[in-house]
Amino acid sequence: MRFFFLATVLTLILPAAVAEDVVPCTRFAELLQRGRNNIWLENPFNYPAEVLVNAGAAYECATSIPILSEDIVLVIEMYKKMLPMYSTLSFLKNPPESYQQPSIDVMAQLDKIAEKAKRGNYTNFYEYESDLSLLGYQAHDQHFRLRNAGMFQFRWYLPHDIVSVSRDGKEVPQVYVYSDIVGKRRDLASPIVQFGGDSVFTYLDKYARTKSSIGLLEPHAEWNALMYNPAVQFGTWGARNGSSIYHNEFRSTSTYNGKYLEGRFANGTTFKWEYLAGSRAVYNLTKITTGQSIYDTWISSKNPNATQEPKEDEEVRILFSNKNTTAFDPLPSVPYPSYPKDPIVVQSNFSRGGTVSGYLLSNNSIGVLSIPSFMTGLYVGGPEELHTAVAEFIAKSREAGAKKIVIDLSGNRGGFLLLAYDTFRQFFPEMDPFTLANARASKSLDTIGSVLSHIASGSIETPTGPLNRTLAQNLGLGDLSMHATLTKKSKPWKSWKQFFGPVTVNGDNYTNPWRYDFNATRVTRQLRFNMTGYDDNQRDYEQAFDPKDIIMLHDGHCGSACAVFSSLMKNIAGVKSVAVGGMPVKGPMQGVAGTRGCQVRQSSAIEKISQLIQTVLSDTRNRSSEALRSELGVTLEELKSLPSTRGSPWRDVTAGINTLNCLPTSNPEIPYQFLYEASYCRVFYTVDMLLDVTQLWKTAAAIARGNTSSCVSGSLNGPGSQPNAPLDVSPGFSHADIWKMRDAEWVWMGPDEPAEDDEGL
Ligand SMILES: *[C@@H]1O[C@H](CO)[C@@H](O)[C@H](O)[C@H]1NC(C)=O
Ligand SMILES: *[C@@H]1O[C@H](CO)[C@@H](O)[C@H](O)[C@H]1NC(C)=O
Ligand SMILES: *[C@@H]1O[C@H](CO)[C@@H](O)[C@H](O)[C@H]1NC(C)=O
Ligand SMILES: *[C@@H]1O[C@H](CO)[C@@H](O)[C@H](O)[C@H]1NC(C)=O
Ligand SMILES: *[C@@H]1O[C@H](CO)[C@@H](O)[C@H](O)[C@H]1NC(C)=O
Ligand SMILES: *[C@@H]1O[C@H](CO)[C@@H](O)[C@H](O)[C@H]1NC(C)=O
Ligand SMILES: *[C@@H]1O[C@H](CO)[C@@H](O)[C@H](O)[C@H]1NC(C)=O
Ligand SMILES: *[C@@H]1O[C@H](CO)[C@@H](O)[C@H](O)[C@H]1NC(C)=O
Ligand SMILES: *[C@@H]1O[C@H](CO)[C@@H](O)[C@H](O)[C@H]1NC(C)=O
Ligand SMILES: *[C@@H]1O[C@H](CO)[C@@H](O)[C@H](O)[C@H]1NC(C)=O
Ligand SMILES: *[C@@H]1O[C@H](CO)[C@@H](O)[C@H](O)[C@H]1NC(C)=O
Ligand SMILES: *[C@@H]1O[C@H](CO)[C@@H](O)[C@H](O)[C@H]1NC(C)=O
Repeated sequence: MRFFFLATVLTLILPAAVAEDVVPCTRFAELLQRGRNNIWLENPFNYPAEVLVNAGAAYECATSIPILSEDIVLVIEMYKKMLPMYSTLSFLKNPPESYQQPSIDVMAQLDKIAEKAKRGNYTNFYEYESDLSLLGYQAHDQHFRLRNAGMFQFRWYLPHDIVSVSRDGKEVPQVYVYSDIVGKRRDLASPIVQFGGDSVFTYLDKYARTKSSIGLLEPHAEWNALMYNPAVQFGTWGARNGSSIYHNEFRSTSTYNGKYLEGRFANGTTFKWEYLAGSRAVYNLTKITTGQSIYDTWISSKNPNATQEPKEDEEVRILFSNKNTTAFDPLPSVPYPSYPKDPIVVQSNFSRGGTVSGYLLSNNSIGVLSIPSFMTGLYVGGPEELHTAVAEFIAKSREAGAKKIVIDLSGNRGGFLLLAYDTFRQFFPEMDPFTLANARASKSLDTIGSVLSHIASGSIETPTGPLNRTLAQNLGLGDLSMHATLTKKSKPWKSWKQFFGPVTVNGDNYTNPWRYDFNATRVTRQLRFNMTGYDDNQRDYEQAFDPKDIIMLHDGHCGSACAVFSSLMKNIAGVKSVAVGGMPVKGPMQGVAGTRGCQVRQSSAIEKISQLIQTVLSDTRNRSSEALRSELGVTLEELKSLPSTRGSPWRDVTAGINTLNCLPTSNPEIPYQFLYEASYCRVFYTVDMLLDVTQLWKTAAAIARGNTSSCVSGSLNGPGSQPNAPLDVSPGFSHADIWKMRDAEWVWMGPDEPAEDDEGL
């Protein structure tokens, strides 16, 4: 019960009233403060909690934060200097038919925002930032974010979670209220058929496209992202002590969606759910009373009184590994009721930085390794903690004689890239973790990379102090210099020019494809241990398990480091995968539908490098800066066009951009992001799986044994599911087709009607 409470009652709603006629932000701040004052009374166990108050009060406050049109125009110009390093720009504009999302011209959309600003059409910060966020969502790339300081402090929540489940695995899934379908009277639960006057599908489609910030590569995955999912929840907050309690993209949104959401169940009962608002910021009523004071305190870069950007209240976590819980369980377990309480291994500081756990099922015949995140959390000693947990799992399940291994990557949105390679090597220590990547051959990259190369070769003076550290770090990464990488043939580069290319594809320029050099300590130094199978970190096995005895489980979230890991397992070792969930239609799903980009870079880091370059090139001790520049072939113009937010009107003008494309080795021209690659098989979630995740794991293990009877009809061996054969042509359907198929086919027939997928089961 304690665990259940933690998992589900994560928010506190406090009955506080503040007169409606006060200034909007004062009212919001007072409501929050009253809630905070009471939180300890209502929350004696110090569970992570958030104060939630009137939704309209937050919206009125948000829309009272002022903005100046000329500031927007200036900031958009700054973004346009950063974005040439965004690796997928031209493919987003002109994607191959395998891509399941609409195209978008990011640069043109930015211009539209600037034009709208010039027309004076933004009346407050919230309006502007909503447009900016929407642009971000439309790139369907978790590695792409444009954020200023305005909106992050507001979030709206619904009182219920939804899920999409088949009652028995045969009946086509329906959308239910989570608490209905896992409750005692689940036999009486009736599915939701309408939201906001539309069919549940039409509504959720529109919602996914306009309100959800998740940005996944296909509709099945986006559907899943709207549903309650303990793996993504645990993977997100368990990996960091500072991260917010995670609700799915439907339960919570940073885009206001009205005060209420109305809907109807199939049994005819209607409902009206009230949105409530929370904030990540701490409102100090002495300072924050109006939209203007929020602007002055948290946004403006000009105010001498400006404070540090507001931090969310630090969550107070109970330690699952503390004495009392240890007496209760042999090892701390995932704090969600559907997870087993008897792991054979958990990562250190589990649930407070550690997220990996392992299990043995069915008389030790099945081993399950759950990796909901590759993050290295704040509490964790370092990446070696995750490494150790995986090593222990492999040792224990080998010793127990496990016949099938399920690697559950549900909810895994990535983390530390080198851990993806290392985890692969723990299973296959002798296989070469060969992957290819490239960057967009932008003018800025050329300037940065060529200057770094000159520094590394000693032809210009090395910077000192913090800049030297920045330099050392960046020489170990693949996206800004050539020193961490080798050619496709595993040879060192002869020059920056050889690395840079450019190679022209899709009307745009890219660097030559490269691979990481894991023999270089400057690359693996960040791991703080030798990668498995290198140097002294050897294994006494060639492979821990036969690839055909391993199966990966994906729910569509898998992206970034998770996508890299999955690609290594699939394309190098030949491991199969099962996707779970998706829309209630037949056919395949791409389990790896988070970003497939190889590197996210924060604009602040790029700016640091720009500063380094500018400092180095203005060093006139030996040569004039003109002489230096002409020797390096860098013009003053090029220096000036390096990304910079100097002179920004706001303090928080940042972008996260994907700087590296992962490339398939079979066709190293088109970024993986745009290719179609179905999982080997797709299964629907069932009520049993929601209640007990081991039911899902056993289903996956059965598929690894060759029993594919649970695969959704038309999903087995889908397009691109074979190793090294991702599609760059249409898989036979598009995003729109999948949603349309749903609306055309879906007719509520009542719980006793035969399921439409029966013949395939
Ligand atoms: C934008 O501004 C123009 C002219 O001021 C006005 O006519 C139009 O209604 C505005 N549009 C929006 C969406 O605010
Ligand atoms: C209809 O279904 C909903 C959702 O399961 C339930 O809460 C409600 O009580 C049901 N209404 C009737 C009249 O059975
Ligand atoms: C969370 O991590 C930070 C950084 O390591 C640390 O300063 C802080 O004390 C931690 N929070 C708690 C509640 O322990
Ligand atoms: C609120 O801000 C005032 C003025 O800056 C400061 O004196 C006070 O300590 C702050 N209160 C809290 C609780 O941080
Ligand atoms: C800064 O703080 C001082 C003292 O609290 C106040 O008098 C002044 O108006 C503030 N300046 C701005 C720009 O808010
Ligand atoms: C353990 O349980 C005892 C008795 O229930 C309680 O007094 C104590 O505070 C608990 N300790 C921790 C660390 O939770
Ligand atoms: C587990 O093993 C025991 C003893 O070998 C056997 O009796 C039992 O049926 C097995 N259970 C399962 C679920 O295979
Ligand atoms: C676990 O977290 C604590 C901080 O609460 C830290 O001191 C300790 O080093 C961590 N242990 C490991 C193995 O990371
Ligand atoms: C810069 O750092 C490198 C190690 O990364 C060191 O060898 C070198 O001496 C440093 N140079 C300066 C000028 O500090
Ligand atoms: C690609 O590179 C070529 C040669 O450097 C250059 O002429 C061309 O303008 C570049 N194209 C783009 C789209 O940047
Ligand atoms: C790394 O070193 C090992 C052992 O010396 C060698 O077999 C392997 O080819 C090297 N890898 C690359 C990518 O050069
Ligand atoms: C890596 O292995 C080498 C021996 O090959 C050893 O000298 C070195 O200390 C190891 N590095 C780490 C970080 O363990």
